[in-house]
Amino acid sequence: MESLIGLVNRIQRACTVLGDYGGGDNAFSSLWEALPTVAVVGGQSSGKSSVLESIVGRDFLPRGSGIVTRRPLVLQLHKTEDGSQEYAEFLHLPKRRFTDFSVVRKEIQDETDRITGKTKQISPVPIHLSIYSPNVVNLTLIDLPGLTKVAIEGQPESIVQDIEAMVRTYVEKPNCIILAISPANQDIATSDAIKLAREVDPTGERTFGVLTKLDLMDKGTNALDVLEGRSYRLQHPWVGIVNRSQADINKNIDMIVARRKEREYFATSPDYGHLSNKMGSEYLAKLLSKHLESVIRARIPSITSLINKSIDELESEMDHLGRPIAVDAGAQLYTILELCRAFDKVFKEHLDGGRPGGDR
Ligand code: GDP
Ligand code: NA
Ligand code: MG
Repeated sequence: MESLIGLVNRIQRACTVLGDYGGGDNAFSSLWEALPTVAVVGGQSSGKSSVLESIVGRDFLPRGSGIVTRRPLVLQLHKTEDGSQEYAEFLHLPKRRFTDFSVVRKEIQDETDRITGKTKQISPVPIHLSIYSPNVVNLTLIDLPGLTKVAIEGQPESIVQDIEAMVRTYVEKPNCIILAISPANQDIATSDAIKLAREVDPTGERTFGVLTKLDLMDKGTNALDVLEGRSYRLQHPWVGIVNRSQADINKNIDMIVARRKEREYFATSPDYGHLSNKMGSEYLAKLLSKHLESVIRARIPSITSLINKSIDELESEMDHLGRPIAVDAGAQLYTILELCRAFDKVFKEHLDGGRPGGDR
């Protein structure tokens, strides 16, 4: 059986092909709304890209100063058998396998520019990237532009509000799991991520708080008040992270080595030793994967009914267009209709045979 997380990602890709992401008003908009997602939210330089790379165990995201992430990146991770070769694939370049992750980084940059025209503008059209690797857990994450307070040279003044509005279209959805990233070397009360999460999820039931840069705190201070939920209470436990520093990145410290160093940091830390098995990026990845799967499982009945509704709407749209249809639009609708039928079938299998841990 295909994993539930993988299935939901296939529907997300179909929605992108139809041009329906976070808005719009066709057959798929309510379905898009209903799909559980994990969105990565935080201020610029809070460590979002570093957390994502650490979860993947690979160095592949564009970096630099200013607004680097200018389109949502839907990142789907597929766990493969130990020893198998890692590769990446883009939805916009089907059948091309990337094994060199520096080329993946270049393609994300180029594909961003293709839509935004190097203007430093942002665009809501997502880029879909799948990574197949023995070093990941099954998980889909959406990387979003970093929240910022001022526009820089060459950017329209409205960029600050535009970014916040785009991030909001994701985190507002009741089915969005918010991965709120805050740096430990800044006061949590000033965190952009927590400020937004508090607004859209006041009870903290769908927010996972992540505290980066623990190694950069002033000597003699620690983050136990945050990590133990006294500073800002969430329903899920906070996870502390130590990513690669800029110096580590400049020295090309391997991600797998960085994960090991992070484990050692917590295991030997006088402050966090007692929490060490609930800290770090590997723990975070497992926690999210488990949570996302259970949320999807709980939503199967409502997703199935929305898919059936979409099928009905698509069928009547196709009747309206007339069959056979040679034009692209008709062919595309037909492909998606077939996809929906397949989803419906697999969802039902999960519903019937679905016991916890039933899929791989
Ligand atoms: P983003 O803008 O939110 O994507 O942030 P990045 O992941 O690009 O990180 C910004 C800078 O902070 C980079 O130079 C990282 O090396 C550094 N950084 C991120 N997390 C940590 C951390 O946990 N410890 C240290 N020392 N540096 C970090
Ligand atoms: Na950055
Ligand atoms: Mg970034």
